[in-house]
Amino acid sequence: MITEQESTVLVGDEGDEQMSNLSSNTAMRDVIRSRYSRRSLLQGSLSAAALGFLGAGLVGCGSSSSDDTPPGGDNGNGNGGANGNGEIEAPVLLGFAAIPVSDADTVVVPEGYSVRAILPMGEPIAGSYPSYALDNSGEEQGMQMGSHHDGMHFFPIEGEHPYEGSSAEGFIVMNHEYVEPRFMHTAAIGQALSRSNVPVLNEDNERDADQVLKELNGHGVSIVRMREEERGHWVVVADDRNRRVTGLTPMEISGPVRGTDFVKTRFSPTGTMTRGTLNNCAHGVTPWNTYLAAEENWAGYFRNSTAADRDALPREQSRYGVRHAGQTSRYLWDQANEDPDLHQQRFARFDVGATGDSALEDYRNEPNGFGWMVEIDPFDETHTPVKRTALGRFAHEGVVFANVEEGKPVVCYSGDDAQNEYIYKFVSAQPYYADTAGGHLLDTGTLYVARFNEDGSGEWLPLIYGMAPLNDANGFRSQADVLVNTRLAADALGATKMDRPEWGAVNPLTGSVYFTLTNNTSRTDDNTDAANPRAQSRWGHIIRWDEANGNAAGTRFEWDIFILAGPTDDSAFNGEALTDEQIFNSPDGLWFDKEARLWIQTDISEGVMNSGDWAQFGNNQMLACDPINKVLRRFLTGPLGQEITGVVTTPDQRTMFVNVQHPGATTTPADFAEGDINSRFPDYDNAIYPRSATLVITKDDGGVIGS
Ligand code: FEO
Ligand code: CA
Ligand code: CA
Ligand code: CA
Repeated sequence: MITEQESTVLVGDEGDEQMSNLSSNTAMRDVIRSRYSRRSLLQGSLSAAALGFLGAGLVGCGSSSSDDTPPGGDNGNGNGGANGNGEIEAPVLLGFAAIPVSDADTVVVPEGYSVRAILPMGEPIAGSYPSYALDNSGEEQGMQMGSHHDGMHFFPIEGEHPYEGSSAEGFIVMNHEYVEPRFMHTAAIGQALSRSNVPVLNEDNERDADQVLKELNGHGVSIVRMREEERGHWVVVADDRNRRVTGLTPMEISGPVRGTDFVKTRFSPTGTMTRGTLNNCAHGVTPWNTYLAAEENWAGYFRNSTAADRDALPREQSRYGVRHAGQTSRYLWDQANEDPDLHQQRFARFDVGATGDSALEDYRNEPNGFGWMVEIDPFDETHTPVKRTALGRFAHEGVVFANVEEGKPVVCYSGDDAQNEYIYKFVSAQPYYADTAGGHLLDTGTLYVARFNEDGSGEWLPLIYGMAPLNDANGFRSQADVLVNTRLAADALGATKMDRPEWGAVNPLTGSVYFTLTNNTSRTDDNTDAANPRAQSRWGHIIRWDEANGNAAGTRFEWDIFILAGPTDDSAFNGEALTDEQIFNSPDGLWFDKEARLWIQTDISEGVMNSGDWAQFGNNQMLACDPINKVLRRFLTGPLGQEITGVVTTPDQRTMFVNVQHPGATTTPADFAEGDINSRFPDYDNAIYPRSATLVITKDDGGVIGS
């Protein structure tokens, strides 16, 4: 059995979500228990829930008429309204029977639903459409679906609106978070490799350059036109706009960091460009119909060969977990065996040591080009992806937009997924008008970080250079400095350290914001707080808030805990423990459909999945929740070793796409060496190795998914 302590170490060793926050922000330890018992669990009436507030007793909980109706905003996916009493008419949204937990190597959906897998890693989607084979070259991988499918959106083919248009044809755009080298290379066969080990190095301690290219091309984003040929059967449509954005694709840097010394490199002496996007987790969809890729655990891909230890790293590297000379980089890409010119072009930048005479002669600033949100236009294959630096630099787990209103600022939220990191909000300086909206709105504005007070109130603290403490006296010298060092700025402001913020979702009917806090085994008894109430939080929770007076651009909010995840004897939802048909842990993916069903996806770590206290939850799963009527039911269970992440429906809600990431990842090194892989998803009898893939879910009666 794997103990909790061991599991923490395992996760850290694998390079995901390691803790880099060593700041001394105090946590609100003495408030927790009273708050946890007093009002951490939602139990308001329908009208109270519709308000988005949590009933009586809240400090600062307004009852003015402006609070009595949901915001009239429209992010394009809202269709709700209030009745004459200011209460939302709320039919029960869930019409399916819950399914049990599962530890089988298969996908299970409720009775009356069908599920198929499409777009596995390696599926040809662009260029010369090379067929999938284990010995595909690195170049071929760059014309195929990447690996480790994550956040995803279906863009209707008309290209006019992110949530309206065709439900039978459109572009599926998705992030590929990382790769599993042992499932990608013939050189791995017969070796005892874990999911993060790389195939053999040569006698000079170098990696094969084409393996490295293949891994870089397995990362990034896929943009692929899909059409429903018959009900539930979707096929790839050849289109010049189909493309892969990878770890190598040239990208613009925009916003306050553009052109500053922080991002000048040998590749871009003007500090305006960088190459590639890495470790893209969750995603975002802008109101102007573009896609945002989030850069999450990018830091470990870089190694600083001239910094002997952590203390020798510059702060913009150490606070994020860039590796020092005493460590190895995640996939050893800096050790690629390549001819010098190509090496310089592709791989030299993963050594971020100060090896040259100046920043223009090496890649010491390369990591400053990562940690951003990246905007991609799926309808223009000539569009250069843009890193939007005004949204801050951290381990972005996607971004979610508040319901937009004409003439008001654009507001979006993004979590920093690492232990004890923060939740942020960006408010544009320019107002939103549908006719003129575009990515420029994300280049000027104010980034805020959240402080959750013990009494259920909250504050958005602005990250503005020159406003104390973000001034020269404290080592901040420009707004670009504040943004490159977003985490340090948030530390200085006294933001609330959270239990690993993952996805956020905004209720299209009420504007309430929900965030998953997946788990945090590093939290101690001494630093629990009201918003993160459990020491050694193994199960995670979902928090939610409402902006004061319905003003998403404001600086105050009211919050509460929506669900405490966990087993039947250590969980809570609407004042009661979760039942067998509801238990889950490590919430991660989170998405509202247009009728305000909340879809919750789980990511139990591979280090503990199906073992010890985690065994009772089975494989990773997806649940559906009706947040108004307080109904929660398990909807889907996935195969072995994977996480369920990424969910969207077609505009008619009659087709749902869900991603299955890293099936078979729990295969032990010894079993891998024997060819005994514990998952064969999605090819089963024809499987070479398990592959990440997308599920297509339909209801047999043709109805709305979940209804
Ligand atoms: Fe990549 Fe935070 O999940
Ligand atoms: Ca995630
Ligand atoms: Ca994961
Ligand atoms: Ca996760």
